[in-house]
Amino acid sequence: MSAIPDLESLHARGAAQQPSYPDRAAVDTAVQKLRTMPPLVFAGECDDLTEKIAAVTRGEAFLLQGGDCAETFAGVTADNVRNKLRVLLQMAVVLTYAASVPVVKVGRLAGQYAKPRSSDNETRVVDGQSITLPAYRGDAVNGYEFNEASRIPDPQRLVDVYNSSAATLNLVRAFVTGGYADLRQVHTWNTDFVRSSPAGQRYETMAGEIERALTFMHAIGADPDEFRRVDFHSSHEALVLEYEHAMTRIDSRTDAPYDVSGHFVWIGERTRQLDGAHVELLSRIRNPIGVKLGPTTSADDAIALAAKLNPDNTPGRLTFITRFGAGKIRDGLPDLVEKVTAAGLHVAWVCDPMHGNTFEASSGYKTRKFEDVIDELQGFFDVHRSLGTWPGGIHIELTGDDVTECVGGGEELAEMDLGNRYESVCDPRLNRVQSLETAFLVAEMLRDA
Ligand code: PEP
Ligand code: CO
Repeated sequence: MSAIPDLESLHARGAAQQPSYPDRAAVDTAVQKLRTMPPLVFAGECDDLTEKIAAVTRGEAFLLQGGDCAETFAGVTADNVRNKLRVLLQMAVVLTYAASVPVVKVGRLAGQYAKPRSSDNETRVVDGQSITLPAYRGDAVNGYEFNEASRIPDPQRLVDVYNSSAATLNLVRAFVTGGYADLRQVHTWNTDFVRSSPAGQRYETMAGEIERALTFMHAIGADPDEFRRVDFHSSHEALVLEYEHAMTRIDSRTDAPYDVSGHFVWIGERTRQLDGAHVELLSRIRNPIGVKLGPTTSADDAIALAAKLNPDNTPGRLTFITRFGAGKIRDGLPDLVEKVTAAGLHVAWVCDPMHGNTFEASSGYKTRKFEDVIDELQGFFDVHRSLGTWPGGIHIELTGDDVTECVGGGEELAEMDLGNRYESVCDPRLNRVQSLETAFLVAEMLRDA
């Protein structure tokens, strides 16, 4: 790992999916400001996460990564952050307890504000008139509101990303160390609407068993610190070069560069070009990193990415997040896993069962079928089982609220229901009940693995 290239040379690689800022001076001001801000995470914490993902790579732990498709500035409220954390804690407990495997917990939060788009523009019919404006690229770049002023990329938003991420992470850190994540609270996470659902009732039974086990442990004098706090990490897609570059610092302990905007950063499906700016930048930082791999990825592509991103083949450094789609995973994944494994590469394999399964409902809402999500997860476990490799984790878009964005699941949400509470500004997320159901189903798959 050497010094990181400057922004100009990164852009010279023809960086994909970048905002076209109209005012370069304003970009410089925002970048300079960010360079003076304290780190959001510490390099040592990133190293700890690398160690934990190394255990995933060895088949000794399971990664749970989840959160919004796109965080919003308006979504930085105590309730919203707590609800997301709560569903992730519930899922983690289900996975740990039902499958007896340590779970590495990573939120898609405190930095997940920039979105790659398949089209640069968006056209809507407003008052009978067809209007085309720049696409919404996440709160990090421009406004969701559909008018010209709001859609102009504004670099000041990068500073807002920093501040919103700091506020989110501060609350998350308080929750996970300050008593909220205490295992003796397992029952209290199971509140409101989720409690009455079948998944909620199943959770209640499990929480009762955990409580009895804890009481027993307490009675025999065992009360380890692990009962009272959890390790929780932040992650986001490293997309806007200005932000990730400005948040990269040389760690005084190791003299190595770390992207201190989050513990784990990943490269998206649209920005994983081997000679591209994102691969170049992330090859230079020492955080644990991920790459999304879609159905067009060849084994050679994956092996070349690993050679560039993890030349020392350090376990825990590199995670491949596959997102093939339920219809493609059983045919496409085996070759990839087989050849990467045969090449002796240490990677954690994680399944994103969301991004290959998106479709537009007749009502116009972007949605996903819960059954497709589960089918892709099952395909992921089946492929790894047949190859004797470890299905290392799941990467899920979810929310802690009762939204209606994905169809199906135990509540049998129909396309007709999507309009009831559709709040995502980007991709459809599993709601809290669907997330809990997913955790129980994955726990069963994991037990069989
Ligand atoms: C995402 O994770 O929200 C995303 C855009 O994924 P992908 O890069 O896999 O399409
Ligand atoms: Co998404």
